[in-house]
Amino acid sequence: MTRVSIKVDGVDYEDDVEPRTLLVHHLREQLGKVGTVVGCDTSNCGACTVLMSDADGHQRSVKSCSVLAVQANDREIITIEGLSGPDRTLHPVQRAFHQAHGLQCGFCTPGMIMAAVDLLEENADPSEEEIREGLEGNLCRCTGYQNIVRAVREASAEIRAGHGTAEPAPPTPRAGEGETPDSGLRREDVPDETIPQPVP
Ligand code: FES
Ligand code: FES
Repeated sequence: MTRVSIKVDGVDYEDDVEPRTLLVHHLREQLGKVGTVVGCDTSNCGACTVLMSDADGHQRSVKSCSVLAVQANDREIITIEGLSGPDRTLHPVQRAFHQAHGLQCGFCTPGMIMAAVDLLEENADPSEEEIREGLEGNLCRCTGYQNIVRAVREASAEIRAGHGTAEPAPPTPRAGEGETPDSGLRREDVPDETIPQPVP
């Protein structure tokens, strides 16, 4: 076991992890952050995308099934559960996905939104082509991508108009308290789930 110290959605966590534990499993099974989902476990689908601070402190999107929990030691992670503002207002990208119907089953949505937040940080006014290129590591089985691209365009316009920021909002007051609503779940309290398999 290795001791790791990771800030997740504004809360500092100290945990013992096995060196082989993937970040996505650590987030879900040890911290109860089940908003981050596992689609493929092989770094192909992007469903598990979260933001992780780099050595310079910049938040970059990473596929958390391709990062070991020990690699996140002393880093800050933001998941889909940490994007909303202090009064639980949605992040502009979350709002745009809702308004532009950028989802159907929603399984890809957490990863899509986190990747879009990173994309808009890099490029505040991406063209449709740049959005498609920026999100190409994230797969959606339902939407045909049209509404996802539209949602990112709408979020970009909203952010540029000053109605929001691509910066993740500060953690919610509850997340800043000693115990988050979903933290501390024992493994047996986390319901088993059936991971949808792609149709061949
Ligand atoms: S679960 Fe990580 S990329 Fe598919
Ligand atoms: S909305 Fe179902 S996978 Fe994207």
